[in-house]
Amino acid sequence: MTSRRTRIYEGKAKILYEGPEPGTVIVHFKDDATAFNAQKKAVIEGKGVLNQRISEYIFTRLNDLGIPTHFLRSLNVREQLVREVEIIPLEVVVRNVAAGSLATRLGLEEGTALPRSIIEFCYKNDALGDPMVSEEHITAFGWAAPQEIDDIMHMSIRINDFLTGLFLGIGIKLIDFKIEFGRLYENDMMRIVLADEISPDSCRLWDTKTNDKMDKDRFRRDMGGLVEAYQEVAKRLGIISENEKPERARPKLVKSDT
Ligand code: TMP
Repeated sequence: MTSRRTRIYEGKAKILYEGPEPGTVIVHFKDDATAFNAQKKAVIEGKGVLNQRISEYIFTRLNDLGIPTHFLRSLNVREQLVREVEIIPLEVVVRNVAAGSLATRLGLEEGTALPRSIIEFCYKNDALGDPMVSEEHITAFGWAAPQEIDDIMHMSIRINDFLTGLFLGIGIKLIDFKIEFGRLYENDMMRIVLADEISPDSCRLWDTKTNDKMDKDRFRRDMGGLVEAYQEVAKRLGIISENEKPERARPKLVKSDT
């Protein structure tokens, strides 16, 4: 099925193919998991499908709220059609509670509430290990213009407000997350839209009652139970039903004897 398509790019967790119309791209969510700049690797069966479905749900809700995204529609459980954008080479991290690299960098105990939500920028460059940068670096090197940084920060705050409420309603604390933005060119206009994905691969999600991790830290920290945790997130969001195995959700072709 996928072999005839033109592959544009293969990343660590996703493959991009040319879409059916100009200006569109097909995103294929792989089961590959990486951490620490791909020093740690594994294939986790079912992860890609869960991330696609969770990201589809969140991007649809954001589109409905008037927060522009690249998402058009899902094509199947593992793939989605998106608008082609020029990716801004920044990883935008929004944090509500200290964890991960912030906890390490500032010597904070994981789980400490932050005085307010904090936005950080990292320069998307695997060879350099995605170093943290300031607005000064971003504008000096021309990765984004000051007005674009403003748009990105406003959208990031709105996305954080929406996601925090969405997850709180299903018993999950949104500790932090990483998003990416792109430039969408339409006619003579350009606007910044949310791109990439929002999934348990790119968020830290803790169960409100138990503080159990329901995100990729289960892989980063060798805790096991990643697919079960992502499934629980999908179930609580109402995306999959209690007993559904998402990777088996498609009807199977049954050979007829007649
Ligand atoms: P950090 O604490 O390791 O900097 O991660 C902050 C958030 O960003 C966390 O939710 C995980 C997410 N993240 C990614 O999505 N991709 C990455 O490459 C890294 C380092 C973090």
